[in-house]
Parts: sequence; structure tokens; C-alpha cells
Amino acid sequence: MKRPVLSNIGKLAYLPVEEHDLKQSARLFIGAAALALAVPFAAMADDVSDGATAFGAKCAVCHNADSAERKIGPGLAGIKDGKLPSGKEATTENIMTIINEGGNGMPAYESILTAEEKTALVAYLKTI
Ligand code: HEC
Repeated sequence: MKRPVLSNIGKLAYLPVEEHDLKQSARLFIGAAALALAVPFAAMADDVSDGATAFGAKCAVCHNADSAERKIGPGLAGIKDGKLPSGKEATTENIMTIINEGGNGMPAYESILTAEEKTALVAYLKTI
């Protein structure tokens, strides 16, 4: 008979602490979740602006980013709507293939650009 009583007292004494701990963990969890969300967004913003810089340096001689008007290559404005000038889907994979392999007058950038530059370029192209 003594044990249950004692353990009940124990529970009562612990309840507020547990509740407090739960709230604390919930707050920590929400904080961590917010951070986890904020970090990729910050990284994305960096990618887009790095991509814009790389585009200006490597691609803008042949491509307009603000119109569909042709320079040496097709104008690239409109990729954000989901299609490349050729009509292909503007997926990360398709854009990477074009950057890496080029073709039909477009240079291949496979070994010219770093993986980071290519990722940044794709992120940027998807905004124009
Ligand atoms: C020397 C000129 C030149 C440069 C520099 C160049 N491109 Fe191109 N690009 C072209 C030409 C020409 C085409 C059209 C190829 C075709 O019709 O198959 C093209 C096509 C493209 C397309 C459209 C593909 C499609 O399926 O519609 C994308 C996207 C693209 N280039 C991205 C880039 C990026 C990103 C860079 C910079 C890393 C770059 N280009 C640099 C000439 C260039």
C-alpha cells in the first residue's frame, strides 16, 4: 500500500516539471524547425544572386535574361514559367545537361564551372 501512494505523490510532484519540460521542448523544437527552414531559404537567396553574377560573367554574351529576344543563343526570359526556349521542361536536370554539355553553338561548361556555380546558375535561371 505504501508504494502506490508514494509513487502518486511522486507523480504529482513531477507533473508541473514534466509539463514545463514539454513546453520547453516544444519551444526548442519550434525554434529548431524555424532555423531548419530559414537556412535553406538563406542558401537559396545566395544561390540566386551568385547565379546572377555567374550568368553575367559567362552567359550574358550569348543570352538575354530579361527577354526572349535572341542574341547568339535564345533569350532565356520565361524559364520561371516552366519551359526552356526549346520547349523542354525547365527541370534542374534538363538545365544541368545544357550547361554541362552545350551543343548547337552553346559551349559545354562541364569542366569550366564548379558544381556550386552550376547549382547557383540553375537556381537563378529558374527565377527569370
Ligand atoms: C557562345 C554563346 C553561348 C554562351 C556563352 C552560352 N550559351 Fe547557352 N546557348 C547558346 C546557343 C546557341 C543555344 C541554342 C542551342 C540549341 O538551339 O540547341 C543555347 C541554349 C541555351 C539554353 C536553352 C536550351 C533549351 O533547351 O532551350 C539555356 C538554358 C542556356 N543556353 C543556358 C546557358 C547558360 C546558363 C550559359 C552560361 C553558363 C550559357 N547558356 C552560355 C549559346 C551560348
